[in-house]
Amino acid sequence: MPPTVIRVKKGGKVATMTAVLQDGCALECRGVTYRLPSGTALVSGLNLIVAQGETVVLLGRSGSGKTTTLKLINRLLEPNEGEIFISGRTASSWDPIQLRRGIGYVIQDAGLFPHWSVEKNVALVPQLDRWPEDRIRARVKEMLELVGLPPAEFASRRPSELSGGQRQRVGVARALAADPPILLMDEPFGALDPVTRAELQREFRALASRLGKSIALASRLGKSIVFVTHDVREALFLGARIALLAAGRLVGDYAPKEFLHSAEPEARAFAASFHLGRDLEEAV
Ligand SMILES: Nc1ncnc2c1ncn2[C@@H]1O[C@H](COP(=O)(O)OP(=O)(O)OP(=O)(O)O)[C@@H](O)[C@H]1O
Ligand SMILES: [Mg+2]
Repeated sequence: MPPTVIRVKKGGKVATMTAVLQDGCALECRGVTYRLPSGTALVSGLNLIVAQGETVVLLGRSGSGKTTTLKLINRLLEPNEGEIFISGRTASSWDPIQLRRGIGYVIQDAGLFPHWSVEKNVALVPQLDRWPEDRIRARVKEMLELVGLPPAEFASRRPSELSGGQRQRVGVARALAADPPILLMDEPFGALDPVTRAELQREFRALASRLGKSIALASRLGKSIVFVTHDVREALFLGARIALLAAGRLVGDYAPKEFLHSAEPEARAFAASFHLGRDLEEAV
């Protein structure tokens, strides 16, 4: 498989750049702070590194700044302080449109275009990148099958004709469609019933590892994924690392095995919720 490229328009010339980096780092937030005009900081002094082929889970309570962090990475928001590096370059030096095409983004509530069919929504970035029509059709079919939405049944529906969980799955298919080197996923399985959620978590884990390994073998390039959740089980299951946010600050960065044993108060609060779930299981 050829390496995924992000195209950068500079001075009228379109340069292409693979996400293959000498330091193996796909994404870095360095001292990133974002404040509202009122002065309230939603994200403060955030330092986060995501290596190529790595899945980092951003875990935190509701309102801790997870979505804000993803918006900063995707340049939907600009930091007041600090710098974000994408594929070795400052985010601010990328053309924002080109940057977003290189980053698959699963928005928290799917964010589909309501008047477009499922097929057209999933085809969005390949269309923008002017893939040939037959390749787009094949890719959309492949992606819908991957997320468990048989194309014959779902491709021509509008988002309003889907359940919340089905819309989320279309959002995942759309983010994966153009095979971007970086994926930002904001609670992509939040609206799913527990059975489907567990199925998709298993599939996603296998997929993330396949994407990391197979592409790595072919081109030394793996997909780098930032996966947002407030579900500690999901974080432990999917993350190679867990970055814990509290009130806009990174309070810890753990391997899954370390997380449940951390003495940090917020990590302990999440660990307690995990153990409570286990106690409840044992009680029934
Ligand atoms: N434009 C805004 N104006 C004022 N407050 C905002 C704005 N955007 C976000 N916030 C606040 O910033 C904080 C962080 O929001 P963010 O959406 O990043 O949280 P989150 O961790 O994604 O939460 P959730 O798990 O509920 O999705 C919240 O308290 C939110 O109310
Ligand atoms: Mg959020």
